[in-house]
Amino acid sequence: MKQRILFVDEDQSVLDGFKRVLYKMRSKWDMDFASTSEQALEKMENGSFNAVVASLHMTGISGIQLFEILQESHPETARVFVSDSGEMKTLIEALGTAHQFLVKPVDPVILKNTILRVMALREYLQDNHLKAVINKIKSLPTQPEIHLELLQAISTESIREIGKIIEKNPSIAAKILQLVNSPFFGLKSHINSIFQAVALLGVDTLKALVLSLEIFSKFQVSGSLSKELDEIFSHSIDVASYARLIANEISHRREVANDAFMGGLLHDTGRLILLSCQTEIYYKIKYRYDHQPAAARLPLWQIENEILGVDHSKIGAYLLGLWGLPEIYVEVAAYHHTPTAYFSRQFSAVTAVHIADAIKHMETDDKESRVDFSLRLDLPHLDPLDLTSVVPSFITSINRLKELQPSDR
Ligand SMILES: [Fe+2]
Ligand SMILES: [Fe+2]
Repeated sequence: MKQRILFVDEDQSVLDGFKRVLYKMRSKWDMDFASTSEQALEKMENGSFNAVVASLHMTGISGIQLFEILQESHPETARVFVSDSGEMKTLIEALGTAHQFLVKPVDPVILKNTILRVMALREYLQDNHLKAVINKIKSLPTQPEIHLELLQAISTESIREIGKIIEKNPSIAAKILQLVNSPFFGLKSHINSIFQAVALLGVDTLKALVLSLEIFSKFQVSGSLSKELDEIFSHSIDVASYARLIANEISHRREVANDAFMGGLLHDTGRLILLSCQTEIYYKIKYRYDHQPAAARLPLWQIENEILGVDHSKIGAYLLGLWGLPEIYVEVAAYHHTPTAYFSRQFSAVTAVHIADAIKHMETDDKESRVDFSLRLDLPHLDPLDLTSVVPSFITSINRLKELQPSDR
């Protein structure tokens, strides 16, 4: 079946331009065009679209208002914004309602690839209910006091100190990486360091971003939820630093090490989504995981598959992909349990995060059990890379790192 895409812009020449550059896609896409938000809403009433690509600036119902309406009435539809100006203020305003951002004049290749990527994601996650739930997410959960802490740091601290705070918060890091890696910034290679991202955004934009995240965050964090959130954050931060160390030891390339760190920070995004949007199911899964016989423990993702029919790797990868994050982070989230399924047979950030995650689970969840550590490792991926026998040396290096850098969390 053809994918249905609606383009909305009050400038007819822009719509004509879209038609022209996407002409060759007409065998795969059923494309429709509207010159006002009102007309777009009418068309949506008569049949749903897989994606809407709309201009931000429109008289009458604005692009942001249109997407706010669609977010509630048609959450299954992917929302791509096109800004006329490249103004940072408008981008921040749109962050809660749009999944991806483009800026005029739209590069035809970027336009086509953005839509292709969004369409591929529709096939990737089959569960329509979950898809609609994830499509409505404005931001990931975080402790409420973080916004205040960050705002204070932005006014008084250096970029380094601000970056250090964000590096300990996967939810805010994800939103910042979404912003700096959008076509808005037009960068040739992706940003894989929070410090670079903070420097690029500048103090004023960062402040506006943190304030908008505070407004988006509907998730009430208290009591046991707060403890869970702390646990996922703490796990993600450790996996990030272990993965960076492993990537440094194997690849000696800063790019791979940075990707391993950021990928590690975001690898369990799916767990954050389950905790904030499917809280009951999250606890059901956790209960089953925590009450397994010590000698035969299943990994969390297998229990998720049994209960939910899908696991957190897929859920997280879907959101990161929808938000247009660099592909390597989507791939780390998707394949961190099963790197054999990843297309690359080479060592990559995916491999580093997989090993780091297994080591972290061994340190925490498997402490009391007699589970063989190698069961957590994807040996068909690691053996051809000659990495299986090296894993103990990573554990030694990680322990040395911990002695040198006592955790300040
Ligand atoms: Fe995981
Ligand atoms: Fe994990």
